Amino acid sequence: MQARFTVNGEERQVDVPEDMPLLWVLRDELALTGTKYGCGIAQCGACTVHLDGMAVRACQVEARELDGSTVLTIEGLGTPEAPHPVQQAWIETQVAQCGYCQSGQIMQAASLLAGNPDPSDAEIDAVMSGNLCRCGSYPRIRTAIRAASAAVGR
Ligand code: FES
Ligand code: FES
Repeated sequence: MQARFTVNGEERQVDVPEDMPLLWVLRDELALTGTKYGCGIAQCGACTVHLDGMAVRACQVEARELDGSTVLTIEGLGTPEAPHPVQQAWIETQVAQCGYCQSGQIMQAASLLAGNPDPSDAEIDAVMSGNLCRCGSYPRIRTAIRAASAAVGR
């Protein structure tokens, strides 16, 4: 099938099987490898991107759902010159350890702050609980989200 959709502000077209997961459309068809494969079954959050403004698991979205949609990946969230507040906070807090889960964590956190710029600790924990980190960077993730929240609120 042909799917035409917007990725990181650019119109893209792919010719792929209709049940191909968005994760593979991004990584294999569009060479956007910042989005990671962890489990493939919606259990880890490594593949989190935004679809029409909502955080979704790219391993669970099929190509047939993409036509006319808008996708944002870690590559489009900010730039080195103008990082998104969440990316800036991540750098300042030095959140990453191995880094594998981090693009999914950042996309989930950016989605949280877009809808709730001043979340409580309980709200942060609830929204981030589906994003797993084998390295255990959770305390720094929370610290960075609080810092980004302060920056978003300025
Ligand atoms: S790879 Fe999609 S949630 Fe784990
Ligand atoms: S930083 Fe290694 S899995 Fe999260």
